[in-house]
Amino acid sequence: MRQDTPIPSAVVKKYVEQMNLDNVGKASIREIKRLVDLVEEETGQRYVRMEMGIPGLKPSQIGVEAEKAALDKGVAAIYPDIDGVRSLKKEISRFVKLFMNIDVQPRGCIPTVGSMQGSFAAFMTVTRMNKQKDTILFLDPGFPVHKQQCRVQGTRFDSFDVYNHRGEKLRAKLESHLAKGNVAALLYSNPNNPSWICFTETELKIIGELATKYDVVVIEDLAYFAMDFRQDMSKPGQPPYQPSVANFTDQYLLLISSSKAFSYAGQRIGMMVISDTLFEKGSKDLLPYYGMEQFGRAMVFGTMYALSSGTSHSPQYALQALLKASNDGEYDFVEVVKEYGEKAKIMKKLFTDNGFKIVYDRDEDKPLADGFYFTISYPGFSGEELIETLVYYGISAISLAITGSERLEGLRACVSLVDREQFPDLAYRLAKFHEHHGGQGV
Ligand SMILES: Cc1ncc(COP(=O)(O)O)c(C=O)c1O
Repeated sequence: MRQDTPIPSAVVKKYVEQMNLDNVGKASIREIKRLVDLVEEETGQRYVRMEMGIPGLKPSQIGVEAEKAALDKGVAAIYPDIDGVRSLKKEISRFVKLFMNIDVQPRGCIPTVGSMQGSFAAFMTVTRMNKQKDTILFLDPGFPVHKQQCRVQGTRFDSFDVYNHRGEKLRAKLESHLAKGNVAALLYSNPNNPSWICFTETELKIIGELATKYDVVVIEDLAYFAMDFRQDMSKPGQPPYQPSVANFTDQYLLLISSSKAFSYAGQRIGMMVISDTLFEKGSKDLLPYYGMEQFGRAMVFGTMYALSSGTSHSPQYALQALLKASNDGEYDFVEVVKEYGEKAKIMKKLFTDNGFKIVYDRDEDKPLADGFYFTISYPGFSGEELIETLVYYGISAISLAITGSERLEGLRACVSLVDREQFPDLAYRLAKFHEHHGGQGV
């Protein structure tokens, strides 16, 4: 490594050695975070940190106040119902009607300990519904922790990168997987972490039709609800709505996180929304595990009961207040998070002005939206080499290799923790990188 990098190379090297990181490009997100923490501490230079997907905004006061009031009333002493506080269930049902235009009874609207618990419970329950179907199919790139959940619970999974199968081409590829007959459910996030692609109506229709044809549950992960800012989905009861597979199949289970949309990640509260049809679906194969046949009851009184016996009481009141204010048109949560898209637009330009390419750059014929994440590459570098080199330029990100992407040259950049006042630093560091490498590789 040359000596004249923006961050003194001797310091970076010292900590790479101290942490025994043979290959920085292969390090986990948490290891990169630690390395950057150490270098920042010694040099006093602040990194442009794009490795972790943490909300960069303050939680809404509406939630905080409602939670405090609930605690003052004494809810901390009381076990919450496993399937959630009744008034919250009603607001979730209203929310999906007003912002997605779909009808789901409050019964199937269940708060979870973050959307992560929702996916864990979903994998566990759907793979027990039919003895022949024991596999989760991931439409990648995706969120690595979902696969980790499958590994720790011993659930089989399969995946493919959708990059080369957009639009009508998705049908043949998806069908080749579903026709094997072993897929219980498929999962994708929309907008997608890490690539920020958004499935088009054509693609959602294909997914829905094939799910119905092959009796597969679609787990739609809406962690970035209404955050495709190319359309204004902020008005309750008015189109455009958050696009969803729910318009094309009745075998769906939605996971709606409050971490990003409401900047409420710390309280670990999310929503699982089970379609009325799926809730009522019965299966004898559930009996050995749950002693009951109905999917919805097995989920609540079997899986959720066993996992955590419900969701912490006070955040349920926070979420109820946030949803009610949004449903009543009194709180515009989309307006608040638009900041992510605005920052992404500026940051993407800083990268592309300095020789970088955007890896996932289109939704069929449309340029990609600007949002929470974007993906980058630099000619001549593998993703690993790029991470390893950028660390010397005061920039951190993660490799797409850990997300199931076939684009091994790519990195995921997350905009949330980067302050606007760091943009001049980012511009300077990228210009230095480009000057030193000039599209020539490492
Ligand atoms: C695609 C995706 N799904 C789920 C989650 C987890 O959400 P929660 O914080 O509600 O557990 C995240 C968080 O980063 C995510 O990116």
